Amino acid sequence: MAKLRGKPVAGSRVEMVEVVLPNDANLLGNILGGKVMHLIDIAGAIVAHRHSRSAVVTVSVDNLDFAHPIRVGQLIILRAVVTRAFHTSLEVAVKVFREDPVTGERLQTSSAFVTYVALDEKGRPKTVPPVIAKTAEEKREYREALLRRRLRLAAAARAHRLYFGPGMK
Ligand SMILES: CC(C)(COP(=O)(O)OP(=O)(O)OC[C@H]1O[C@@H](n2cnc3c(N)ncnc32)[C@H](O)[C@@H]1OP(=O)(O)O)[C@@H](O)C(=O)NCCC(=O)NCCS
Repeated sequence: MAKLRGKPVAGSRVEMVEVVLPNDANLLGNILGGKVMHLIDIAGAIVAHRHSRSAVVTVSVDNLDFAHPIRVGQLIILRAVVTRAFHTSLEVAVKVFREDPVTGERLQTSSAFVTYVALDEKGRPKTVPPVIAKTAEEKREYREALLRRRLRLAAAARAHRLYFGPGMK
C-alpha cells in the first residue's frame, strides 16, 4: 500500500472558546469536570478528524487533572494539536485555560493527551497520515509521544488483566 503523505501540525490545530454557563456548573459555581472532559474530547476529535479526514473514535485519555476552577461567566479556552500519528491511531494534546473576560487574565487549568483511532466506512481501523513536526516544541512533543504511547499501552494491558482477567479479549 502507498505511504500516506505527512501533514503539518498547523493544518489541524483547533482553538475553541466557550463561556461557562450556570447549567454547566456545580453548587459552588465552578464548571463541572465532566463538562471539561466533554470539551476536551470534542476539541481533540476535531483535530484528529481534520488530520485524518476520517471518522475517529476516542480510545484512550491519559490522566487528567483539574488544577484550578473555572467559574460561571469566565471563558474556557481549549487549544488542541496533533502530536504524532502512529499507524491507525494518533495522539492529540489538549490544553485548557480559563480567561477572565473583564481583566483578560488567562491561566492554564488542565491538560490531557487523548488517543483517537481513525475508522474506514466499515468501522475498521485505517492508516492515518504521519505528522510533520516543524517547530522545536512540535518536535519535542513528537519525540515524547512515542514514550507516552509505550507507557499508555503497557498501562492499558495491565488494567485489562486486572479488570477482566487473563482470559478476556
Ligand atoms: C478503537 C477500536 C476500534 C480499536 O479496536 P482494536 O480491536 O483494539 O484495534 P487494534 O488492536 O487494531 O488497535 C487500533 C489502534 O488503537 C490503539 N489502541 C488500542 N487500545 C489502545 C489504548 N488503550 N490506548 C491507546 N491506543 C490504543 C492500537 O495501538 C492501535 O494503534 P496503531 O494502529 O496506531 O498501532 C476499539 O477499541 C473500539 O471501537 N473502541 C471503542 C471506541 C469508542 O466507541 N469510543 C467512544 C467512547 S465509548
